[in-house]
Amino acid sequence: AKSIVVLVSGNGSNLQAILEQISLGKINGKVTAVVSNKQSAYALTRAKEAGIPAIFIDHKSFASRESYDQALKKSIDEFTPDLIVLAGFMRILTPEFVDYYSARMLNIHPSLLPKYKGLDTHQRAIDAGDVEHGASVHFVTPELDGGPVVLQSKVPIFERQDPDELAQRVQQQERQMYPLVISWFCSDRLKMQNNKAMLDDKILAEMGYA
Ligand code: GAR
Repeated sequence: AKSIVVLVSGNGSNLQAILEQISLGKINGKVTAVVSNKQSAYALTRAKEAGIPAIFIDHKSFASRESYDQALKKSIDEFTPDLIVLAGFMRILTPEFVDYYSARMLNIHPSLLPKYKGLDTHQRAIDAGDVEHGASVHFVTPELDGGPVVLQSKVPIFERQDPDELAQRVQQQERQMYPLVISWFCSDRLKMQNNKAMLDDKILAEMGYA
């Protein structure tokens, strides 16, 4: 099974969904550590409850982004990861860090990329008058939220849409799609090549494309 290190900053509902699919045998992997830059992240509690090392590395105790990322890397590499999963990790990573984990780091972003990179995506989609919104799973490259997209899931934006309700529907989709993409990676059916996502023919057939 592949070693997966999950980076978090918050609630950890995506982490929970991944752990559930692993325990159901749907992912050929094991979460070997969960690392947070926020001590209060509920995701750390979820990790502890699952018996997984839950590590807090405080960005406030480092002078620079580079030194923080070096500490993060050192901590992560103790678990010899095959895959780094960003699951609500709310910190920009240095290009050095991203390049070091090139082609083995995934992120989930709450928008239909390339729309709405960055923060406050749900409100921005509503304000723009969009009729649909969603989430994207992508490989991480140095361009913020700009790496190759693997899978997207759409939800409608309703009349007089409340942003929190929209976020909930998007997150429900996230909990379906992120474990699926991770399962592909862990069974060597998904790669990044030439800055593009590449799926093997077997998955394409399963999805009805081949
Ligand atoms: C998710 O909606 C995820 O897409 C978003 O944070 C939430 C984390 O939820 N990520 C970003 O905005 C990344 N910039 P969770 O902690 O319950 O998994």
